[in-house]
Amino acid sequence: MSSETLDNLSSEDRTFAPTPEFAAQANAQASIYGEAAHDRLKFWEKQAEALVWERKWDTTLEWNPPFAKWFVGGKINASVNALDRHVAEGHGGRIAFHFEGEPGDTRTISYAQLLTEVSKAANALTEIGIVAGDRVAIYMPLIPEAAVAMLACARIGAIHSVVFGGFSADALLSRIQDADAKLVITADGGFRKGAAFALKPAVDEALQGSTNVKHVLVVKRTGQETAWVEGRDIWWHDLVNHQPSTHTPEFFDSEHPLFILYTSGTTAKPKGIFHTTGGYLTQVAYTHKVVFDLKQRTDVYWCTADVGWITGHSYMVYGPLINGATQVMYEGTPDTPHKGRVFEIVEKYGVTILYTAPTLIRTWMKWGEEFPNKFNLSTLRLLGSVGEPINPEAWMWYRHVIGGGRCPIVDTWWQTETGAIMISPLPGVTITKPGSAMRPLPGISAKVVDDNGNPVGDGHGGYLILDEPWPSMLRGVWGEEERFKETYWSRWEGIYFAGDGAKLDDDGAIWLLGRVDDVMNVSGHRISTTEVESALVSHEAVAEAAVVGAADAMTGQGIVAFVILRGGVEHVEGEELVKELRNHVAKEIGAIAKPRQIMVVNELPKTRSGKIMRRLLKDVAENRAVGDATTLADPNVMKLISEGLKSSTSED
Ligand code: WTA
Repeated sequence: MSSETLDNLSSEDRTFAPTPEFAAQANAQASIYGEAAHDRLKFWEKQAEALVWERKWDTTLEWNPPFAKWFVGGKINASVNALDRHVAEGHGGRIAFHFEGEPGDTRTISYAQLLTEVSKAANALTEIGIVAGDRVAIYMPLIPEAAVAMLACARIGAIHSVVFGGFSADALLSRIQDADAKLVITADGGFRKGAAFALKPAVDEALQGSTNVKHVLVVKRTGQETAWVEGRDIWWHDLVNHQPSTHTPEFFDSEHPLFILYTSGTTAKPKGIFHTTGGYLTQVAYTHKVVFDLKQRTDVYWCTADVGWITGHSYMVYGPLINGATQVMYEGTPDTPHKGRVFEIVEKYGVTILYTAPTLIRTWMKWGEEFPNKFNLSTLRLLGSVGEPINPEAWMWYRHVIGGGRCPIVDTWWQTETGAIMISPLPGVTITKPGSAMRPLPGISAKVVDDNGNPVGDGHGGYLILDEPWPSMLRGVWGEEERFKETYWSRWEGIYFAGDGAKLDDDGAIWLLGRVDDVMNVSGHRISTTEVESALVSHEAVAEAAVVGAADAMTGQGIVAFVILRGGVEHVEGEELVKELRNHVAKEIGAIAKPRQIMVVNELPKTRSGKIMRRLLKDVAENRAVGDATTLADPNVMKLISEGLKSSTSED
């Protein structure tokens, strides 16, 4: 029997150092590790000083575990940091957003224009009675007004709660109720997969429930017919357009809540993660500058996330705007009207920094190289990844096919709860390994520990924890203090447990191994789904893999794998392929990890943010009725998979 908390199976020898040219011009140099280690709080003060404060803080950190206050006594306004400062510094003409709608409509918005829009919207919110501390639900497609709405809330101290536009009326209602929102900002609809989808009807349905919503502010995006509740519903253009174009901001306490964002736990009621202002802005701006190496005059930065997720909050709205970035914002899906749409947009706007998710990278691998190869991607100079472990082969593909072998890759680990990036390479400093997030950023303390909370040595696996408070940490679960303590802080005294498994390789680099709930126990070995998935993806025929542990009379759990094949690759098929893949896993990481069963599928069940829902696959693998699949991006996927599995045979 293995006594390891999590077995360390795979190893990786490939390394990639930044080029001397990149290293020389990088925003972050190696010295900041030492600087932060020498005096962590002073390091964070220096980062906070890069923001505009109306009143400087008195105390950098008050830490009464698990409650932290950062930059206590400081007064700050988020939208002033994102907008007014750039205009005041003479950069009002710089482009903030190149917006590209899915149908191909475009808008170019400068910092000065964005400030005007946000000022008008702030005046509008005030006119309809929204005041500091009120909660505002935002349920929008990915269009500029989504960012305007968030910044307008921030400007007047209202707390925004963005609900992803793909969520149902029920999901919207429960979030409106939990936060007790007074206002909903939405649109008639948006464009996705080549068609207009409606949003307003879901708001109408949600508001049949009991809420304190007084008004619904509706942006006209698609021009669809929309039901209208007189007195409650207001067109955005009717209210906002006639407002004064300037707005004098008020400054708020550093610990004033900035937003709530619900994380949909796989089973329980969603948690309203809330973030406050000063510390959050400090860390998103700092990480955006050092991890993405942003040069505000020359870079064109594109984060492909939706504003409905934390990545959209931190790395499309607050971080990049505070740093004065020029960004791309794209409304639609990556395969509309063709599978090269993302690459076409990179070429069109000369994108230099691209930040996306492994799920999209693996989808591109499945579609084949012909799509990226059709476009000129030579402007790219840095690539980022977030959301899931990136398998080494997907990393290599990203580097070569998208990055032309020249771009450093930053694999960034963080969570809705952490607010900002915690573990990542520094692109001009770190010698990266494909698939590893490498080291905690300067200023951050993260460790891998065993069941007793003791750090595991290099070469071992365990639980990823954060043992020092950080500026952008969640301040709580909205209205649920006990749940906050219980969920994140109860395992070890004063220690934040992130829920993820990780290992340290022999050089001390961190490898994320997925959620610990997903860990499989095969004959007493604790095996991470991520390692087996990466071994499968390292086979030339496989684009994507999802692995689960299914109850097994012999071994406790048996490994069941679901794989998607790569486009345009010659390979054997059927039984032959399955055998080859099983042997491949045995060769890569050992016979213990050989899947009991492998099934070739066309799609995997994913949440709307692209995370694989292994829980549902486990239901299939254990021949149970599939559980709650309402958060799936495509509800039909499970039906196809269950039918397919019944007809496939298990081996050995
Ligand atoms: C996972 C997204 C491996 C992890 C910013 C985490 C990752 C959860 C990575 C948070 C990464 C995120 N490598 N796993 N680079 N980034 N994760 O709240 O399991 O949507 O706990 O925040 O995604 O997801 P969330």
